[in-house]
Amino acid sequence: MVDTKATLSIKGESDSAIDLDIRSGTVGPSVVDIAPLSKNGYFTFDPGFVATASCESKITYIDGDAGTLLHRGYPIEQLAEKSDYLEVCYLLLNGELPNREEKEAFDRTVRYHTMLNDNIADFYRGFRYDAHPMAMMCATVGAMSSFYHDSLDINDPESRQVATFRLISKMPTLAAMSYKHSIGQPSMYPRNELDYAENFLHMMFGNPCEETNVNPILADAMDKIFILHADHEQNASTSTVRLAGSSGANPFACIAAGIATLWGPSHGGANEAVLRMLGEIGDISNVEAAVKRAKDKDDAFRLMGFGHRVYKNFDPRAKVLKKSCDQVLGELGINDPLLDIARKLEEIALEDSYFIDKKLYPNVDFYSGIILQALGIPLSMFTVIFAIGRTVGWIAHWNEMLSEPYKIGRPRQLYTGHAIRDYRDIEQR
Ligand code: SDX
Repeated sequence: MVDTKATLSIKGESDSAIDLDIRSGTVGPSVVDIAPLSKNGYFTFDPGFVATASCESKITYIDGDAGTLLHRGYPIEQLAEKSDYLEVCYLLLNGELPNREEKEAFDRTVRYHTMLNDNIADFYRGFRYDAHPMAMMCATVGAMSSFYHDSLDINDPESRQVATFRLISKMPTLAAMSYKHSIGQPSMYPRNELDYAENFLHMMFGNPCEETNVNPILADAMDKIFILHADHEQNASTSTVRLAGSSGANPFACIAAGIATLWGPSHGGANEAVLRMLGEIGDISNVEAAVKRAKDKDDAFRLMGFGHRVYKNFDPRAKVLKKSCDQVLGELGINDPLLDIARKLEEIALEDSYFIDKKLYPNVDFYSGIILQALGIPLSMFTVIFAIGRTVGWIAHWNEMLSEPYKIGRPRQLYTGHAIRDYRDIEQR
């Protein structure tokens, strides 16, 4: 829908003007359609895509100033409280909440596709014992394309749906296998009678020598963590998946690319970095010094779990997680000193003009690690947990892009290198 127009007037040797359409969405900022610029010899320049809408989407809406996060219009707070992860998967993928029959069918399909081709287990024997689980996830998810040839046709909606179920169903199995490899224990087969999060915890902490009884408090907290990480508009890893998908790459390769991007400490790797940071701070008495370092331009130290490209208010997921921290640790009778340090850090930072002026608030990663630690998840698995939750968001965006006419993503640049020059023989250099 074109709402109105803008005119870019260019002053110089020959004054010119370029008419640009302005399009508005359902809510949120309107966009200036800059297509005519390239026809007039101009590009826009927006490193980091701070003010660039890369696509049109109907999946997730974020209002950074209001601290709002909607999935297909439903507030994340309501989904976290009332829904479950597989229902949120259905919503993100299909656009509506399922009725009872649809939900049962979706859950059943996921439950009965959690096993992997057994040859994939051989991959883990090739990894060192101390390989980071995210390295193993990049490798094994990408390798899925070498096993599941009947779900690689990206132009066939049915093939895309098969790949969708395989990825959502098998990510927890691959993740648990990477953990078991790192501790030298045998992998656990998934159990079809268990719920999604319950099954994951069974595969993580069960062993073949005894029955596994997953604590429902832990399973519920795990499911909520998956919901809170399910999707987040055009973040770095989702944009990577869209870009990879725009070349026609197969779904497993695209999701592996998303996993690789998520791994960075500025993105999904932040949850692991937050726990390391809290551990280094070590005591409440050191919090002031840490905040001082975070404000020092000459110090690379940042408060991990703070700040966000979009949220200039509280990340609504952080609010839910902060509440869950108290609930889960209370129910488990855990008194984690890191939680006290985190609370003190938040309290001091949010009263400090540096953080107030720069609108830096706790993000999804600030409290998630404390809950994951309480669930017994090891630090090296934190970002893997994020990847499990985010797989459905990556797939929903990948599928949305492929369901409409699309072009390969190919940004341009502002070139500031040498103008053309002739080769010089070595004697002349
Ligand atoms: C996720 O995009 C998404 O939606 C991501 C995500 C998702 O669900 O997919 O929400 C998940 O990645 C959450 C973010 C996790 N990362 C961290 O917690 C790492 C710490 N945060 C920062 O690195 C930073 O805030 C980013 C990367 C999150 C955002 O970076 P921006 O938007 O590029 O902002 P910036 O780095 O330009 O910072 C703006 C200013 C700078 O100061 P000036 O140069 O303007 O003087 O704020 C400062 C920064 O130095 N700043 C911080 C800070 N974050 C920003 N200073 C101290 N501590 C911090 N954490």
